[in-house]
Amino acid sequence: MLSRDQLLQAAETYGTPLYVYDARVLDDRIQRAVQAFQGARIFFAMKANSNLHLLRRMKEQGLGFEVVSYGELRKALHAGVPGDRILVNGPAKTPEEYALGQEVGATFILDRLDECHFLNPGAKVIVRVNPELHVSTHSHLATGEAHSKFGVPLGHATEALQQARNAGLNVRGLHLHIGSAIQNPEDFREAFEKVAHLADEVGHLEVLDVGGGWGLNADLEGIAKIAFEAAQSFGAELWVEPGRFLVSESGVLLTRVVGTKETARKFILLDAGMTEILRPMLYGAQHPLQPLWESKQTDHYDLAGPACESGDLLARNVELPVPTRGDVLVLEQAGAYGAVMSSTYLTRPRPAEVMWDGEFRVIRQRENLERLWELELAAES
Ligand code: LLP
Repeated sequence: MLSRDQLLQAAETYGTPLYVYDARVLDDRIQRAVQAFQGARIFFAMKANSNLHLLRRMKEQGLGFEVVSYGELRKALHAGVPGDRILVNGPAKTPEEYALGQEVGATFILDRLDECHFLNPGAKVIVRVNPELHVSTHSHLATGEAHSKFGVPLGHATEALQQARNAGLNVRGLHLHIGSAIQNPEDFREAFEKVAHLADEVGHLEVLDVGGGWGLNADLEGIAKIAFEAAQSFGAELWVEPGRFLVSESGVLLTRVVGTKETARKFILLDAGMTEILRPMLYGAQHPLQPLWESKQTDHYDLAGPACESGDLLARNVELPVPTRGDVLVLEQAGAYGAVMSSTYLTRPRPAEVMWDGEFRVIRQRENLERLWELELAAES
């Protein structure tokens, strides 16, 4: 990980709020996944972080990409990944996604049966089934429960495969994804057990794609073992789609203390908030904090962002050394679903992103303020 001095140097040089990535951590995570899943194909879930510089690095290490929008599809191609290493996913795909995905030879994750009508005969598909189980994560992040919007119901899986075949599609196998930030590895076992009986019904499949969802401290070898077993029972090649696990630990968000304030509670006011990192507000996510200042005294604070919304808090009731204006705070595990979920709400330009790879390199410039209203100006003429 980057040292305190390196992080302070980055804040000084590039300003805050700032996303900082460490290429060594990224490569280490990729290699851990590659090792644990030797013989499987890895598709990075690009929604977790779609910075081109990260994508290119992954592509060079042999990864493909799972994409969920026309924009992600175009960007994956722009990063140079061949179409046959792309999975086109999403519950509500657009005509543009069907057209370009087929043109480049991508595989589609069929999320409902009427998608058959939008694809030409011969298109490569895997059929997403909903394993229908409760998993150990935030309700927003569970995707494999009976009431969720994803996939075909487990009871219709065999019929769905047959119908897709009847429609002339090149049906390569099955897909399931139980959710994100799964805390308990037993959830994966349970999901595979739920679909295991299908092996008798559908026979041999080319592919079993078990999605992503690995927690940051996941026992990869353990997950790999049960995933390979599940694939074997179908005689299938194993595909996986990790997002968070590959990128989260490689990134941090740097923010500066603007001041402190006391109402009924004590606040540290920061120059980053919900517009730069939405996860605390949206999921109650607790990112580990590292203050880059020292003080003999500590206190308990809520960490507040600059937005005029009461929910704009990055943490509640955390003990930190008493800061002074300008001190730098590090929010860790921000490489996944951090920068990609930032917004320009309140006409705030999105933060810059830099990567350490022997030296710091800007991999996304701070958003230019004038460009935020460029499209509105263009609409005048
Ligand atoms: N495959 C599919 C079909 C997915 O829907 C997802 C994530 C993944 C793979 C990757 O999951 P991961 O390995 O990253 O857990 N914004 C939320 C996370 C949403 C995840 C959505 N789908 C967050 O900030 O925690």
